[in-house]
Amino acid sequence: MLNQLTQLEQEALEALVAIKSSQELAEWNRRYLGKKGALTLLLRSVGTLPKEERPAFGQAANRAKNELEAAYKERAQELRRIELEREMARGALDVTLPGRPGGPGHLHITTQTLRQIISIFAEMGFQVYESRDVESDEMNFGLLNMPPHHPARDMWDTFWLDDNTLLRTHTSPGQIRVMRERYPEPIRVILPGKCYRYEQVTARSEHQFYQVEGLAVGHAITMTDLIGTLTEFARRLYGPQRHIRIRGSYFPFTEPSVEADMDCILCGGEGCRVCKYSGWLEVAGAGMVHPVVLQNGGYDPAEWSGFAFGLGVERPAMLKYSIDDIRLFYGNDLRFLRQF
Ligand code: PHE
Repeated sequence: MLNQLTQLEQEALEALVAIKSSQELAEWNRRYLGKKGALTLLLRSVGTLPKEERPAFGQAANRAKNELEAAYKERAQELRRIELEREMARGALDVTLPGRPGGPGHLHITTQTLRQIISIFAEMGFQVYESRDVESDEMNFGLLNMPPHHPARDMWDTFWLDDNTLLRTHTSPGQIRVMRERYPEPIRVILPGKCYRYEQVTARSEHQFYQVEGLAVGHAITMTDLIGTLTEFARRLYGPQRHIRIRGSYFPFTEPSVEADMDCILCGGEGCRVCKYSGWLEVAGAGMVHPVVLQNGGYDPAEWSGFAFGLGVERPAMLKYSIDDIRLFYGNDLRFLRQF
């Protein structure tokens, strides 16, 4: 049997040298090393030998196997090189072929929605004011009537860059910046931008999202102006039949504070899955600018009044396209993004 082994090895090595293609090579591998290959079968027959001959044969057979496998690998590499050279000689590898074009991109769904909202308010006479993402504790909280240790700060947990610097939790600090820049002009602006909150990421809330803040400051501005503005906005975005409802709420920087809801665009108020059977969808937190905030912006509350609101941006897009997971907006999955 040892003889048989040596013979087999020699035969296999000779055959390997003669091989000219990867197809033949695969066939060779099957014939000698495969499950039913000659060497495999021979190895398996070790049990038919007398006990004392088995170790020597086993050793020799394993050595032969390793050798053949190494030779196979080497030959495979050689063949690959030869085949590539042959292809290049034939000119099959055309290095002048241009790459695949990336194709034109398009605006992200959030940007599209944001632009739609901006253009509606632009038509209504609001200017766009870009504020900043990185804010001081004072701008994000203090000047908005939330001194340190104010319990309302708990509504807005955020990411801190140092003891006094944070990623803004809402676009409201922009109110102070606009007022300080524009005083003593009357103001009618929106402040679109990204906000950050340190909270659990779920299908309904992300740790980053967009808001559009609205701010109007003037003489004798009233709650009616606020309601009218939000109603007009809802109608321009969702159609002329929309209604807005106002509920009492609380924000430290508005007084009185309200929550504005719109009748459900899907069921029109009947109650459905989208509005959780309430008939209403939340549109904005809003209210009349708090006297302290007016003052912090440089406007005397005895002479001036104003309204402010904060709209979500992703939520309307989710409603419009029936998107049920806000995480998709930041997932960068082209299969999602290409749909809009
Ligand atoms: N800043 C508030 C929030 O993020 C929304 C708001 C804006 C409320 C302006 C009132 C006035 O929840």
